[in-house]
Amino acid sequence: MRLLVTGGTGFVMSNVLRHWLDADPEARAISVDVAPPDASAERHFASVQDRLEFITGDIRDSGLLADLHGAGDIGYVVSGAAMTPTAGTTEATQAAMIVGVNVMGATHCLELGRSLPNLKRMLHVSTGSVYGDGAPDEGPLPEDGYVQPFPSTLYPITKLTGELIAKRYGEMFGLPVHAVRLASVYGPMDRWTPGRNFACALNVMIHRALAGEHWTVSGAAGVGDWIHGGDVADAMCGLLKASALHHQTYNIAHGSAITLADLSDLVCSTVGSGSWSEISDSEKADIRGNPERLKGAWGAYDISRLKAVSGWKPRPLEDAIAHYADWIRGVVAHPVDQLVFVATAFKPIKMRFRHDVQRGNGQKWRCQQDKDCKRTEHPLSSPGLNCSEANRLRDVFVARGRIGVHGASSSSHRSLIGTRTGHSSAQLSGCI
Ligand SMILES: NC(=O)c1ccc[n+]([C@@H]2O[C@H](COP(=O)([O-])OP(=O)(O)OC[C@H]3O[C@@H](n4cnc5c(N)ncnc54)[C@H](O)[C@@H]3O)[C@@H](O)[C@H]2O)c1
Repeated sequence: MRLLVTGGTGFVMSNVLRHWLDADPEARAISVDVAPPDASAERHFASVQDRLEFITGDIRDSGLLADLHGAGDIGYVVSGAAMTPTAGTTEATQAAMIVGVNVMGATHCLELGRSLPNLKRMLHVSTGSVYGDGAPDEGPLPEDGYVQPFPSTLYPITKLTGELIAKRYGEMFGLPVHAVRLASVYGPMDRWTPGRNFACALNVMIHRALAGEHWTVSGAAGVGDWIHGGDVADAMCGLLKASALHHQTYNIAHGSAITLADLSDLVCSTVGSGSWSEISDSEKADIRGNPERLKGAWGAYDISRLKAVSGWKPRPLEDAIAHYADWIRGVVAHPVDQLVFVATAFKPIKMRFRHDVQRGNGQKWRCQQDKDCKRTEHPLSSPGLNCSEANRLRDVFVARGRIGVHGASSSSHRSLIGTRTGHSSAQLSGCI
């Protein structure tokens, strides 16, 4: 029986797919995502690519998943595609798309589930953002009783709506669908995607620590429940395969909260380099916490339901951080990724992004990103990176946002990166 995952080239869902395929050499899967696999995803899935089909398309398009209706060999579905906007600018500029993907896209996925004759189980991926600030006096936050009745921003509004629709589909159509609420996830494959244009705090901390850099934190007494993406994938696969599930909703979390101060210290000691300090100006801080919100969505989540299903438990935080740091070290062994790594570790640098690519047919192109993030390409005669390398650079330099998109010349940036990586400006001229 195949597993179908929407959002499969993104961060969390690519971990789910890899875990599913690694666990059983006979397993097969389908990824549906508006983003085709980028260079990171190609590398991530290289060892399982012959058992994984990619469908590139928009789940807001009802026809996309309808084409799969009745597919008898799909036994499991994870509805994970989503827009995760930051409140404010991103939310305001993408309002209709956020609602379209998180509500109608998720509903199209439920319709697909209804049509599958051999569906065994479906997971609707939700978030701890549906919880409010309220929490029990003692112990971690349970699934029942603490959801915000009237969430105020589009992300929790749409994610809670998706959960409620999934529950109703279960009641109306006997659909075996359950919701999972994830705490703050970090780990391999965390990068900017069409759905999410920010990096989580641990991503920033570990990249900085590996580069021996310093980071600043405001509100360092602020807390969070941090869970490694590999542990999330393990939990979801366990839920999919469990013989019976007795609850509609399951938290997936570490089950304990930690302050940003303690997390920063743990990253420095685990990685063995890096440093941090607290500053009061949140506008200038690399990482922002909120010491006034220490409970509810921000505190520790109760994972006893999940543990009871499959005996699952998250790895210790220190081990998980060490694993993620090792993964980043492995990625940066590749020369282009080394540049990406250096770029990621930098504070944002304003520049116009530009690189050259060589297509399969030998034609060279110059790709440029203007200040509005619009990408243009035009033919070029000088040699450049191959397409996948250039895409990898573009993904991180532009999408990860460590480097802005307007202002200074690329030559100053070349020399900056060259100083860090030992590359000459001339060596870098083909790519930046
Ligand atoms: N990362 C976290 O800390 C976290 C926490 C709680 C919940 N979640 C949930 O986990 C799921 C995955 O989130 P993520 O953090 O991996 O984000 P992500 O952006 O890396 O992954 C989401 C994927 O959905 C895809 N997508 C967006 N719009 C689409 C569309 N119209 N059609 C098809 N695909 C589309 C994106 O291309 C992306 O690959 C989401 O449902 C999110 O709400 C994540």
